[in-house]
Amino acid sequence: MPALSEARAVKAAPRDEAARGVRLEIDRLTKVFGEDADRPFEALRPTSATIEPGEFVSVVGPSGCGKSTLMLMVAGLLQPTGGAVKVDGTVLRGPMTDVGIAFQDHLLLDFRTAMENVLLQGVIRRLPMAPVQERARVLFERLGLANAADRYPHQLSGGMRQRVSLARALVLGPPVLLMDEPFGALDALTRLQVRYDLEQLWMSDRPTVLFITHSVEEAVGLSDRVLVMSPSPGDVVEELRIDLPRPRPLTLGAEPALARHARRIYDHFDRLGVIHRDGAPLHGR
Ligand SMILES: Nc1ncnc2c1ncn2[C@@H]1O[C@H](COP(=O)(O)OP(=O)(O)OP(=O)(O)O)[C@@H](O)[C@H]1O
Ligand SMILES: [Mg+2]
Repeated sequence: MPALSEARAVKAAPRDEAARGVRLEIDRLTKVFGEDADRPFEALRPTSATIEPGEFVSVVGPSGCGKSTLMLMVAGLLQPTGGAVKVDGTVLRGPMTDVGIAFQDHLLLDFRTAMENVLLQGVIRRLPMAPVQERARVLFERLGLANAADRYPHQLSGGMRQRVSLARALVLGPPVLLMDEPFGALDALTRLQVRYDLEQLWMSDRPTVLFITHSVEEAVGLSDRVLVMSPSPGDVVEELRIDLPRPRPLTLGAEPALARHARRIYDHFDRLGVIHRDGAPLHGR
């Protein structure tokens, strides 16, 4: 696996040659919480999607529509009410292994330093540690964490803890990355930096990525496809293909095609009634 610093020079290779990731199928997945209770709650309507090996797919949707619920089921950490997740054609029957996970709640172990939290991924799998340590060192540097390696989670800021959680997801270069708002606690500039790093990493390693974000700009900047979810109980109501070369500019204004895609997503939200604005126009008059 190339170090992140090497990844900078690597151009996106044609899809089929370079893809290392697995094929993920989400097959009519549904979730009802409290099925046996008096008031069951439907969190996710039947949802299907296929993510091809090495494809980067984002999910956007209003708060509470079921994005994290969907992600937890894809990771095999939450039992679906109906439907199935298939990894390379095989139905997932427990927690996914060989996956990098960066979720909304970055669950770091309090009694381990930032670096120990990241290296634990290799320790658990009994891997030779020298390459894991080197990769972790490069990631810490790229993510602006070099001085944080020996600190404990309670000694880190929220944004730093989230970056440690990202480093943990990326350290083994897994074939699948499941990311749920992984940049949510980052300040605006770090967020751009980490997004750039993720794009570079994806271009060199080509994992299959399922990425949940509230940021339309991030979704169109990073993805091959964007899935748009309806308000709760959510399902996928639109799908946009973003066929633009990489690396892509970090701001929408720099690339009219990106801005057009973002506008299409906002228009979907407008039609779905997600944005309440008392007659104010969504786009400039
Ligand atoms: N364990 C649970 N028990 C009962 N209801 C739940 C549970 N987990 C989630 N929900 C409900 O399911 C719905 C979807 O939650 P989910 O966390 O998937 O939303 P989300 O789309 O990720 O929202 P956000 O963008 O705010 O993160 C919400 O109404 C939430 O309250
Ligand atoms: Mg969520």
